[in-house]
Amino acid sequence: MHTRLRGLLLALFLTLTPTALGQVVSESIGENIVRFHASAEAKKNALPSFALLDPKMPATGAAPASFDNEPEFFVDDDGRNSFTIEIEPGTSLYGTGEVPGPLLRNGRRTILWNSDSYGYKESTQSLYKSHPWVLAVRADGSSFGVIGDSTYRIEIDLTDSITFHAEGPEFPVIVIERDSPQEVVQTLAQLTGTIPMPPKWAIGYHQCRYSYYPDAQVREIAKGFRDRNIPADVIWMDIHYMDQYRIFRFDKELFPDPKGLNEYLLNDLNFHNVWMIDPGVGAETERFPPEGYSVYEELMEGNHAVKTADGEVYKGEVWPGWCVFPDYTQQRTRDWWAGLYKDFMAKGVTGVWNDMNEPAIFNVVSKTMPEDNLHVGDPDMGGGGDHARFHNVYGMLMIKATRKGVQEANPDKRPFVLSRATYLGGQRYAAGWSGDNSADWWDLEGSVPMVLNMSLSGFPFYGPDLGGFIGNGDAQQFERWFAFGVMFPFARGHTAVGNVQKEPWAFGPEVEETAREALNNRYRLLPYYYTLFYDAHTAGTPIAQPAFFADPSDPALRTEDDIFLIGGGLLVKPKLTLHGDRVPAMPRGIWNPLTLEGADNPDMPEFFIKGGAIIPSGPVMQYTTEKPLDPLTLIVALDKHGMAKGTLYEDSGDGYEFERGDYLLSTYTAMRKGDTVEVSLTGAKGEQARPDRSLHVRLIMENGEEVTAHGRDGETIKVKLPN
Ligand code: NOJ
Repeated sequence: MHTRLRGLLLALFLTLTPTALGQVVSESIGENIVRFHASAEAKKNALPSFALLDPKMPATGAAPASFDNEPEFFVDDDGRNSFTIEIEPGTSLYGTGEVPGPLLRNGRRTILWNSDSYGYKESTQSLYKSHPWVLAVRADGSSFGVIGDSTYRIEIDLTDSITFHAEGPEFPVIVIERDSPQEVVQTLAQLTGTIPMPPKWAIGYHQCRYSYYPDAQVREIAKGFRDRNIPADVIWMDIHYMDQYRIFRFDKELFPDPKGLNEYLLNDLNFHNVWMIDPGVGAETERFPPEGYSVYEELMEGNHAVKTADGEVYKGEVWPGWCVFPDYTQQRTRDWWAGLYKDFMAKGVTGVWNDMNEPAIFNVVSKTMPEDNLHVGDPDMGGGGDHARFHNVYGMLMIKATRKGVQEANPDKRPFVLSRATYLGGQRYAAGWSGDNSADWWDLEGSVPMVLNMSLSGFPFYGPDLGGFIGNGDAQQFERWFAFGVMFPFARGHTAVGNVQKEPWAFGPEVEETAREALNNRYRLLPYYYTLFYDAHTAGTPIAQPAFFADPSDPALRTEDDIFLIGGGLLVKPKLTLHGDRVPAMPRGIWNPLTLEGADNPDMPEFFIKGGAIIPSGPVMQYTTEKPLDPLTLIVALDKHGMAKGTLYEDSGDGYEFERGDYLLSTYTAMRKGDTVEVSLTGAKGEQARPDRSLHVRLIMENGEEVTAHGRDGETIKVKLPN
């Protein structure tokens, strides 16, 4: 039914029925962004938003009269506060955060309830993160997005419309209308926040395992990369480093000198480190007398713990046995938690991994806290409430506090935090990964749409456990996954305790060679990636993008998730199935085959550059800061007008001087003039001086052949076209 007509009928219904919900209230909160409340009463009672940058975002005026994309509010048969937005035929639905299965979400149901979903498959309805958000793309390519602004358990039902059912009070609905899905996703980032600029090392390759121990093994693995010339920047410490799994404590035998280890890694091997911290604070007072375990003592003395409905300190079982849990809904508890990182970071820790923060609890069927547990909740959160209200934001509030602690410990460095649980807006605090996937082909190919739907949900810094967490898999599968997976924004290999080794060399020389080629490509393209992270940070532009971004009006691309884009200019076509028997739909227009390392390796993805794009690249490096960007190589493909354009963002790679102008943002333009293509610097921003360096141009032709030319950066380079 047409939305206007539906609105009229609803209004008629409302005036005739005394039990009606009331008159929908609509208000603008930005240009063509409208917030709806079920009634004036609902508006008055609305809780502050956790998703929006401004929890009490004020209205800017009345909703535009032309805005007819209105939700219909109702209470469903189960008593849940609900709304529906009808969709026109041909509308494709995406987003809904971290979801298993295909990119296109039409016809699917998702339950937003952060869950420890070990070994999830397509039928799993709740994963670790909650994003009450749907991106809709109409047949003509115009687009809108919908936020159901509630933290309670929500069922998103996309079977034939956009319908949300929340197990909580009435909540506002925000609708963003734009001409393209790109603009909707950028607007989502303006409302909910962009990612902070990461330190450059964090966009290199990360090697993890549950767990590398003792410290000698950590050294050996890191050194293994350097000895074999396989690029990597970070090695990770999972729970076995802890003393009795107690957070902020190191096992005295396995990790007697964490500071020495971190210093060796950084100074001798140029490896950064990330160490795990879970929310559960070990409270096994019998087994491990807590005297001296100041984290537990301070938590108890400071009254920081989540309580049961009876007001007792809640205890749940996790790795250290019985644990108590910080109530991050209080500023004072977040400050206390942040303060714990001071000594921890002083041991040379460079990054923090917050896991199990759904929160995951072992000894109960629900695998989390009772929903009637109590949180104190500061007034700016609308006061206290039960766990049902705060469950989905527990992880996000934890990483908010962690990020603050990491930042305060090293104010001149950019924090790196990784989180398993989060909520819409959580991109402001941490990167994320897709939790406990499995070493099988379903998870391998499913990692592409998972990354893409997170990207489309405002969460660009994300990736899977490459090679699979659960199970050994096999050499072929590992090789395939690694070959394209290191192109995801967050690139980390990880696997579970008890599995075979899964470092790039663990499966023999052939796989090792593929892994090296794949990482060489990632590291060559770092200038491009770093620029894309800057775009994500400043403008909310996703880094990994679905194929339909290349042409939102092309129906063939709407379901395409066998390929993905990195930025607007690079298309990655992985070998997803064992026999490579699927042929993806490619975007129309000019996409020239791009030869990167391993082009004749059947396990490597194929790469394409968009006509009109200039992709900056550099020399292969073993770690992100190994060499200056010299030569700078611009990979160029012309559009149908014989033009191309691209940017390169550079800064010191860490710290905040870039916010004070210490960066260089260069724009390069290519233009065909007769039988020559001229590539020149056409714009520069920032105060950093242009390095005196060589500039190489690789002009990629439609058949994949290329012509090269060399000169100095800043000069116009002329590339002579072949006849
Ligand atoms: C669960 C996490 O998902 C996994 O990545 C980690 O290795 C284990 N916890 C152990 O800490």
